[in-house]
Amino acid sequence: MVIAIDGPAGAGKSTVARALAERLGFTYLDSGAMYRSVALATVRAGADPDDPAAVTDLARALELELSPGRVRIGGEDVSAAIRTPEVSAAASRVSVHPGVRAAMVERQRSIVADGAWVAEGRDIGTVVCPASPLKVHLTASEEERARRRAAETGEQIAAVLASQRDRDARDRGREHGALELAADAVELDTTGLDVDGVVDLIEAIARERGLIGGPGS
Ligand code: DC
Repeated sequence: MVIAIDGPAGAGKSTVARALAERLGFTYLDSGAMYRSVALATVRAGADPDDPAAVTDLARALELELSPGRVRIGGEDVSAAIRTPEVSAAASRVSVHPGVRAAMVERQRSIVADGAWVAEGRDIGTVVCPASPLKVHLTASEEERARRRAAETGEQIAAVLASQRDRDARDRGREHGALELAADAVELDTTGLDVDGVVDLIEAIARERGLIGGPGS
């Protein structure tokens, strides 16, 4: 079973999805880390992130290993290397290519095929797991999202805001796996809410839908 958490950059998806998974005893899947890994491989190979054939080949060949909180490519721990601003920008570009998306979606589906998961991304509820019994679309104001990311990375808010606008436009505008609201998604605006408050809300909905047991179970 998969609880899908989708939304734009900086809406608090990673923090919320990780905390929710821990609280429910589910496993957390960070699908953005997979696109970031393709981007890192592209940058390292000196390939053009806008070249669909080159990037799709890299995505298919990627020896990717995900474990809680860690990402490895060919055995090398790249958990920090995939979080740089350069890789973030490249990730947004490589993730527009349909071949890259097909390769990642296939891997994501096989990862979540068994067990209980909280999976986070842009298209989990719409494309990867359309049968998910609980789809959450997290949002927050543009300024709040930029403030959160700047606090995390130490960058200037204005710089984060500018690159965030670029990424948002690409994530929403691309033809495949675009960020959009699933018809049956619950939309949650996290502006001004703390992580525990958001997790409480999602947990309550999961309980209401009979996806998890009673309080304390
Ligand atoms: O969530 P994130 O910032 O780590 O995502 C990195 C990039 O990957 C972002 O530009 C959008 C893309 N992405 C995607 O296209 N589909 C997903 N399911 C997750 C992320």
